[in-house]
Amino acid sequence: MNNETQDIVKQQDGWNELWKRDIHPWDKETPSPALIEVIEQKPISAQIPKSGNALVPGCGRGVDVFYLGNENRKAYGLDISPIAVQQCKDIRTKKGVSESQAEFMVGDFFKFDIPSGGFQLVYDYTFFCAIQPELRPAWGRRMAELIPTDGVLITLMYPLGNHADGPPFAVSEAAYHEQLDSNFACLLVDSCSSFDTRQGKEKIGVWRRK
Ligand SMILES: C[S@@+](CC[C@H](N)C(=O)[O-])C[C@H]1O[C@@H](n2cnc3c(N)ncnc32)[C@H](O)[C@@H]1O
Repeated sequence: MNNETQDIVKQQDGWNELWKRDIHPWDKETPSPALIEVIEQKPISAQIPKSGNALVPGCGRGVDVFYLGNENRKAYGLDISPIAVQQCKDIRTKKGVSESQAEFMVGDFFKFDIPSGGFQLVYDYTFFCAIQPELRPAWGRRMAELIPTDGVLITLMYPLGNHADGPPFAVSEAAYHEQLDSNFACLLVDSCSSFDTRQGKEKIGVWRRK
């Protein structure tokens, strides 16, 4: 994001303002290669729940939600921007996907109503790096509320680095461990496939709720 975009995010209702202005430089319009790899190709895929509820917090236009939802797994996309969520619903209609496979909700990750049973799978990509770093402890506590025992959290760690400003704020493996280790067992942190512009800036993490 350029400086002007970062300044808009920092305003009240800033994310929705970006969506209103049609500014979404993060949007790759296709599921992340690392998500497909971890779900379909890596040995760890055997340990990832194939049924129940999945959640993509800060889902944007929902590409990863459409990938994760299927006949066995209901995927929820959550976004604080009503405009983004309406776009997801419009895309769902165009794709002919049912609400039982891809459900979209407007809400704040830190306080939305959790569906009964919680989420057996959560996928965080470009959300941990989007929130203010001081909210990271609350992010870790919230993940532990959302995911029942033996549920799985996939974190596509991006952007690895140490720059100061954001979003996207820099992340590190240690930053995820710091927020997750008390409630999650780390099953994997590994290199992964990436979009061209993000090569070398990402790692995949898989965590099981204790
Ligand atoms: C950097 S974008 C990433 C979108 C999507 N994951 C992608 O990669 O295309 C971050 C998204 O998180 C949403 N968001 C920011 N804060 C949020 C919060 N507290 N709860 C839910 N969504 C939030 C924004 O509206 C935005 O769509």
